[in-house]
Amino acid sequence: MLSLLSILLTAGISAVHGACTTGTISSLSDVSSAQGCATVNINGFTVPAGQGFTLSLANNAVVNLKGNILFGNQSWAGPLFTISGKNITFNGNGYLFDGGGPFYWDGQGSNGGVTKPRPMMKIKMSGVFQNTKIVNSPAQCFSVSNPAPLTISSVYIDNSQGDQPNANSGGLAAGHNTDGFDASTTDLTITGCTIKNQDDFLAINKGSNIVFTNNTCSGGHGVSIGSITSNVVVNGVIISNNHLSNADQALRIKTDAVATNSTVTNITYSGNTGTGLRQFGLLIDQSYPDTLGTPGTGVIISNVNFITSTTSLTVNSGAERVALNCGKGSCTGSWNWSYLKTSGGKAGPITNPPTISGSYQ
Ligand SMILES: *[C@@H]1O[C@H](CO)[C@@H](O)[C@H](O)[C@H]1NC(C)=O
Ligand SMILES: *[C@@H]1O[C@H](CO)[C@@H](O)[C@H](O)[C@H]1NC(C)=O
Ligand SMILES: *[C@@H]1O[C@H](CO)[C@@H](O)[C@H](O)[C@H]1NC(C)=O
Ligand SMILES: *[C@@H]1O[C@H](CO)[C@@H](O)[C@H](O)[C@H]1NC(C)=O
Ligand SMILES: *[C@@H]1O[C@H](CO)[C@@H](O)[C@H](O)[C@H]1NC(C)=O
Ligand SMILES: *[C@@H]1O[C@H](CO)[C@@H](O)[C@H](O)[C@H]1NC(C)=O
Repeated sequence: MLSLLSILLTAGISAVHGACTTGTISSLSDVSSAQGCATVNINGFTVPAGQGFTLSLANNAVVNLKGNILFGNQSWAGPLFTISGKNITFNGNGYLFDGGGPFYWDGQGSNGGVTKPRPMMKIKMSGVFQNTKIVNSPAQCFSVSNPAPLTISSVYIDNSQGDQPNANSGGLAAGHNTDGFDASTTDLTITGCTIKNQDDFLAINKGSNIVFTNNTCSGGHGVSIGSITSNVVVNGVIISNNHLSNADQALRIKTDAVATNSTVTNITYSGNTGTGLRQFGLLIDQSYPDTLGTPGTGVIISNVNFITSTTSLTVNSGAERVALNCGKGSCTGSWNWSYLKTSGGKAGPITNPPTISGSYQ
């Protein structure tokens, strides 16, 4: 009797702990039972307004999106979607996430106005996140903090509807602070993505080994390292073979004028094209939040190179091709800009440069 009971108990416990092979999510109420499975299939559904869709996955899980995910409209802090786990394969299968941006947009983004759920997509997984479309993020789109190497590929971010003013934006573009990827992280590759937005395509505030390659981006503020605050390191960023168009600038490094004890080093640009650039081709500025104001000296920038294949930046008339605003002695070493080619517009100011090879101006 006792042994039969113990067999039953053992069986029960092993069933509870046994590997779940496949789980299906068709509403938020399915999440807790499905998220521990080896394969998680997600059918299209609408997430109730004011709630987030949070997936905390088993290591090595495969997630298949099988329909579109919409988020109900309500002003709250967010995030809208959160995914965590190690060595996850997320297959979007071309389906989309719709953040309902036009409901929130007022031209003020996260600086004011209506409280907007952000980020829209909080990525805390490692592995591969691929082949999905994100439309109309209320404010910042992706925030990435991967626990181990992560590749994000073939993700289409379309916030282009936010380029137009609306009734609440006072004549400004309705979408604002709609950063494509905020990635202060390590071991991240973003490739084969398309971004149409009104702020940075990629913003890196700290981190290492970040690769941004073969992406097509338009609108917005370009590919940014910064703004850099105090006590941070950025080391090892490769920005290559991207097509960057109709942006304030293609490429930018901006450091806070008041920042101290930070370094930005080992930054490689290669094979990018920039066209329709409204203010600058390349902007390296140590005076943030001012643009080309009095530069600080507390962030050391070194080893910023344009190598391997030509990066070609064409700016609009009136815009500046290259502006470099360094503090005295804070842009250091020898920089190789042999593979930077610029055209259009006019030369920008070059203040306190390091040794730069190449005829970039
Ligand atoms: C990662 O997950 C895949 C399943 O998608 C598996 O085949 C592979 O062995 C896992 N890798 C590691 C290092 O666990
Ligand atoms: C939220 O509002 C936006 C803008 O009106 C709309 O495009 C979107 O479909 C709405 N979302 C839902 C789930 O109704
Ligand atoms: C670049 O990305 C596009 C998708 O935008 C893809 O079709 C193409 O194969 C990629 N090229 C390389 C060299 O990875
Ligand atoms: C300088 O920054 C590093 C991180 O990059 C940090 O570990 C260190 O404590 C900082 N030093 C001071 C004096 O704050
Ligand atoms: C420069 O960055 C690359 C990654 O992009 C890394 O592999 C390399 O070790 C870094 N070099 C130094 C000197 O830190
Ligand atoms: C700059 O880098 C290129 C390789 O991309 C190399 O051929 C060239 O010699 C380098 N120039 C200097 C001055 O180091």
